[in-house]
Amino acid sequence: MTERKTLDELEVNELAMEFEDKEAQDVIKWALDEFHPRIYIAWSGQAEDMVILDIAHKINPEVRAFALDTGRMHNETYELIEKVREKYGTKIEIFFPNQREVEEMVNEYGVNLMYRDVAYRHLCCEIRKVRPLIRALSKIDGWFTGMRREQWASRQNIRKIEIDHDHGQIVKINPLADWSHEDVWNYIRENDVPYNELYDKGFTSIGCAPCTRPVKPGEDPRAGRWWWEVNAPKECGIHCSIETGGFEKIMDSILQRAEARRD
Ligand code: ADX
Ligand code: SF4
Repeated sequence: MTERKTLDELEVNELAMEFEDKEAQDVIKWALDEFHPRIYIAWSGQAEDMVILDIAHKINPEVRAFALDTGRMHNETYELIEKVREKYGTKIEIFFPNQREVEEMVNEYGVNLMYRDVAYRHLCCEIRKVRPLIRALSKIDGWFTGMRREQWASRQNIRKIEIDHDHGQIVKINPLADWSHEDVWNYIRENDVPYNELYDKGFTSIGCAPCTRPVKPGEDPRAGRWWWEVNAPKECGIHCSIETGGFEKIMDSILQRAEARRD
């Protein structure tokens, strides 16, 4: 088994300081030089991910990307996966959730369990996103994300280079941490980068189809994510652990049933 390349806290602190005032291009180039092919772009079909892909592809056309296909993505997002193949030749690697876990969950609680209660929504995110992410990251040394500080309070303090303590201490690179919404769209326009058609339909943040809707003018850009939830974190748990609201027991029983099943 290939040994994972990790950095220690001190090295990462120094790198984060060194790259804080540098361009996204510099951060991405450093990370690709250091970790490719054992680094992936986490691609959700949002504008930020397309910017990172475009910059990275100009530096190294062999750059790799993965998408957690929850099975509930918008059709427009699938169309963009195909456009990326055509324009860049990049095959976004798809990671699906465990088939038995999804079946146990939806047969017991319904396909749209996310609307029942925040605990069920977290359960769905756990099975469809968090667990497949662990698998996607298990054999690599680093990942790029499109997170930006201005997106949400929980993201205000992200650094451009971090250690990912939730996934084996690998590096997590947020090259656009200090970009504004405008910076992202200026880049997309100036570089003729393909983007998700949902943005032309009023969406400002894009996740799964049942859990994302367009926002009204003046609303927070993340207001369309899990819009029915009040006072709950607009996070799915792939970037930070979330208060689970007591789904552990249900989760354990789903996992046990999935494990015990003989197909
Ligand atoms: S989430 O935690 O609320 O879902 P958000 O949609 O803001 O995250 O996306 C932030 C970044 O997380 C994206 O730019 C992308 O790098 C990564 N990401 C989110 N969803 C996925 C996904 N389904 N597949 C791969 N990466 C994703
Ligand atoms: Fe399930 Fe919605 Fe989470 Fe997607 S965002 S995994 S559909 S709860």
